[in-house]
Amino acid sequence: MNTEALQVNIALDAAAQEKEKREAILKVIDTYRDKPGCLIAVLHLAQEIYGYLPLEVQQIIADGMGESLSHVSGVVSFYSYFSTRPRARLEIKICMGTACYVRGGKRIVERLEEELGISVGETTPDGKFSIIITRCLGACGLAPVVMIGEDVHQQVNPDKIEKILAKY
Ligand code: FES
Repeated sequence: MNTEALQVNIALDAAAQEKEKREAILKVIDTYRDKPGCLIAVLHLAQEIYGYLPLEVQQIIADGMGESLSHVSGVVSFYSYFSTRPRARLEIKICMGTACYVRGGKRIVERLEEELGISVGETTPDGKFSIIITRCLGACGLAPVVMIGEDVHQQVNPDKIEKILAKY
């Protein structure tokens, strides 16, 4: 298959996947439409299906659930587990609980932003990493703590960041 044909096939696959996801979200809405207080459940399921909740998905949910877009957007922005941007394959969670903060958490954030060229809350252009600030991760004795995916890195200092990232 030549490159042009391959690109057309990839575009068609992506369009088909997009259509499937929308149909799945509409099914979820159909299931919950007449049940009061189910907006959060619908948003959760939609995020599982779509991966995140961009404005167009929020609009589909608002229309389907008979809510205003501003109400749906308000709920999405209130809860930190909803994301309006595609999630990275690896989330870097930097603890900013008291112990981690006083032991240099802020300098770790700055070094990570510098190394990855993104700010907190953003995702690298290749979709690999995003930086998130989190509350106490329960390992205060080993502060500062950084989680990358499921891995916990303890007693991190800015000079270790480059080496840690290289593992991923
Ligand atoms: S404050 Fe960071 S692990 Fe508790």
